Amino acid sequence: MTVLVTGGAGYIGSHVVRLLANRGDAVVVVDDLSEGIASRIGDTPLVQLDLATVGAKDKLVETFKNFDVTSVVHLAARKKVGESVERPDWYQEQNVGGLENLLAAMKEASVDKLVFSSSAATYGIPDADQVNEDFDCKPINPYGQTKLDGEHLAQAAAADWGLREVSLRYFNVAGTGWDDLVDTQIANLVPIIFKSLAEGKAPKVFGNDWPTKDGTCVRDYVHVLDLAEAHLSALDYLDGAEREFDVFNVGTGEGSSVLEVINTVASVTGKEITPDIEPRRAGDPAFLCADVSRIETVLHWRARHNLQDIIASVWKALG
Ligand SMILES: NC(=O)c1ccc[n+]([C@@H]2O[C@H](COP(=O)([O-])OP(=O)(O)OC[C@H]3O[C@@H](n4cnc5c(N)ncnc54)[C@H](O)[C@@H]3O)[C@@H](O)[C@H]2O)c1
Repeated sequence: MTVLVTGGAGYIGSHVVRLLANRGDAVVVVDDLSEGIASRIGDTPLVQLDLATVGAKDKLVETFKNFDVTSVVHLAARKKVGESVERPDWYQEQNVGGLENLLAAMKEASVDKLVFSSSAATYGIPDADQVNEDFDCKPINPYGQTKLDGEHLAQAAAADWGLREVSLRYFNVAGTGWDDLVDTQIANLVPIIFKSLAEGKAPKVFGNDWPTKDGTCVRDYVHVLDLAEAHLSALDYLDGAEREFDVFNVGTGEGSSVLEVINTVASVTGKEITPDIEPRRAGDPAFLCADVSRIETVLHWRARHNLQDIIASVWKALG
């Protein structure tokens, strides 16, 4: 009874791996280490493999058998929105092709439980402040489209051969549960602000004339440790007999503006930060926050950390 975690050497995946190991679950990681860091998973077995490569399906089937795998948490994916616009075919190949190989292997080896990393990027620009899972998804970039395609593939496998699956739509993930698992990629707002601080530069804010409380974009920031716990709740849910839902938002339900995030970094670090205000970026929703009532009611999961906790955890890890 082993959980296979794809992308387990990545930022979020390594938190999932550590929580699973801490509760006594056997774990094996599949990661190509393109972005992952092997030391994050300690002595957890690692199979180094690009899921989208020729032969990946057979290697996965072998891994399922060797480790007695009964469930999969699938986090391995390319996640940079800008890069996905530049290389849409590669994103399709990596994110959708990789999942196709994984699902084919799961079917062949009769591994029938999957938790899939989806994203709020599936929603596009919804015309509501808090978005629930029944919203019509209209992704506005190739990355978001690959996540929506992934959800559809998983649902098709459920209908086709009885896969038990849950997709978790993460909102803005930040913070760290352990110092050594801090996000080392400078792709999201919190690492970008800390990088600017370290370089003595002003962080950029794209637009201060949005229709929000202080004119800057508002997002739902969820602590990575809370998010990782949601994966364990989802795995437990897949073991239950009753499974009415297969998609869950993972957020806090609270919105923080870009300026609020910057001000929290300033207050936690004791440094003065004056951002550069730039023009709006095309394609940014003004406000994107999760309606979290479904995950709270059905998975009994609720975020325990707030923005202050998120920033403090990163500051401690970097300090
Ligand atoms: N970080 C966020 O804010 C966020 C938000 C929404 C969704 N997600 C999703 O969460 C998942 C994990 O994100 P993360 O922030 O930990 O990113 P990450 O880049 O740190 O982790 C992804 C891991 O997957 C591995 N990987 C990528 N493509 C692979 C492939 N084809 N074969 C094998 N391994 C591969 C990388 O080496 C890396 O270790 C991704 O699916 C991402 O789309 C992240």
